[in-house]
Amino acid sequence: MEANMPKRKEPGKSLRIKVISMGNAEVGKSCIIKRYCEKRFVSKYLATIGIDYGVTKVQVRDREIKVNIFDMAGHPFFYEVRNEFYKDTQGVILVYDVGQKDSFDALDAWLAEMKQELGPHGNMDNIVFVVCANKIDCTKHRCVDESEGRLWAESKGFLYFETSAQTGEGINEMFQTFYVSIVDLCENGGKRPTTNSSASFTKEQADTIRRIRNSKDSWDMLGVKPGASREEVNKAYRKLAVLLHPDKCVAPGSEDAFKTVVNARTALLKNIK
Ligand code: GTP
Ligand code: MG
Repeated sequence: MEANMPKRKEPGKSLRIKVISMGNAEVGKSCIIKRYCEKRFVSKYLATIGIDYGVTKVQVRDREIKVNIFDMAGHPFFYEVRNEFYKDTQGVILVYDVGQKDSFDALDAWLAEMKQELGPHGNMDNIVFVVCANKIDCTKHRCVDESEGRLWAESKGFLYFETSAQTGEGINEMFQTFYVSIVDLCENGGKRPTTNSSASFTKEQADTIRRIRNSKDSWDMLGVKPGASREEVNKAYRKLAVLLHPDKCVAPGSEDAFKTVVNARTALLKNIK
């Protein structure tokens, strides 16, 4: 039996699962849980000290699910406390603040921390991850847009939700989908269902969209050296057009990336003799 499979898995019977929250300090992990469990929002920041623990019951289809939630402190200071709690987990709520780019950039480091704590025999493929792009109510400060977050999440096979613990937007839908996915995974013997959205686009497409987003100029967008010839520009353009054409690519952000490539090519060809 896999180490992080829950205790009981007969259909119709009750099930006990363990869920943890992860993400930088102050991104809203505790508030998301509080909004769902207690239907309220606390605007004052009360940093979680080490770990908070709670139990809740939810119904998924004909099963009663007892959920043990371990809400982790995001501050690096608490690493020694939270590292004990990664094992035997069935679900992870991975949170970033859409107004704090570094909290989004830190998601990979959070996964790395978990992987390290689970050790060489730990398996993260039988854990359901949901990414919460939180604080979407703060529209003025938003710096990580939906397609960027969704692309990161879906390219890893994770669920993605836009949430606000303040207004409650997205919270119930997120938890409902999260719990259903965990139950599906448990009933499927710990394997992710094959209808995973990660299968709908390739790593090359995801990486290319990310590269185009981070490009500094039109040469960079097309992936050619400054001063490249018309032929080189057109060749690079054709390759990207095949990869990213909206008729062929369903990766989040592909339409914008495609438009960017078209515009970059037009701008470059204007100036090349
Ligand atoms: P640590 O426990 O230190 O890891 O932080 P945390 O991720 O648990 O953050 P917490 O839930 O304590 O929230 C941090 C601050 O962000 C608090 O002041 C919250 O009121 C605020 N906050 C949380 N979610 C939202 C949200 O969706 N919108 C807005 N506007 N503020 C939020
Ligand atoms: Mg907290």
